[in-house]
Amino acid sequence: MLAVAVLVSGRGSNLRAILNSSKLQDLIKVKAVVSDKSFCPAFDIAKEFSIPTYSVGKFTRPLGGKEGTLSFDALQNLLLTSEINLLVLAGFLKLLPPDFVRAFKNRIINIHPALLPSFGGSGMYGINVHNAVFKSSAKVSGATVHFVDETYDTGKIIAQRCVDISDAQSPEEIAERVLVIEHQLLPDVIEKIALGKVFVKDDRVVVVS
Ligand code: GAR
Repeated sequence: MLAVAVLVSGRGSNLRAILNSSKLQDLIKVKAVVSDKSFCPAFDIAKEFSIPTYSVGKFTRPLGGKEGTLSFDALQNLLLTSEINLLVLAGFLKLLPPDFVRAFKNRIINIHPALLPSFGGSGMYGINVHNAVFKSSAKVSGATVHFVDETYDTGKIIAQRCVDISDAQSPEEIAERVLVIEHQLLPDVIEKIALGKVFVKDDRVVVVS
């Protein structure tokens, strides 16, 4: 059973897709939901599933077995001592500190709502991404799941899925189409990781079918 922490900043629809995924039921256990906000709607989803929530940020509060706001160092210790095998960034918008990323090398994945390496980088999140895609007049968009490194959206790509947006009339319409793909792609990638079918070889990500 793969022990997973999901990091979120907002709505949590990808978190819900993970928790509702029947293919993941016997493969993973989501042991923590972490946000850079003191509260976000995704926390309500975590509570529905009785998953402990943590806020990570500026304020440090000692770990007394109670939920609270943690520093990144404290979060790192918590996740390591809880033997978390995989961190999933599902709409988590804050850049992780380099030490934190190094501590979980190739064990942090992120979902991005476009086809990287285009339309990524600082400030490219949520509707900003779809605005840029719409403006570019691109005919396809999609979702990317990649390993997280020290900068925004540059880690190696694990999987991508495309969607036709040639007739999309607005960024919101693109967002809607991409979100459907996200909710399939992220559980699919987590399943592959849980089954040991994703690894890095010769500096490339290999996904076994
Ligand atoms: C998702 O579309 C995700 O791809 C995006 O934020 C949204 C979160 O939605 N992430 C980024 O833009 C990261 N650069 P959700 O909270 O409903 O899962």
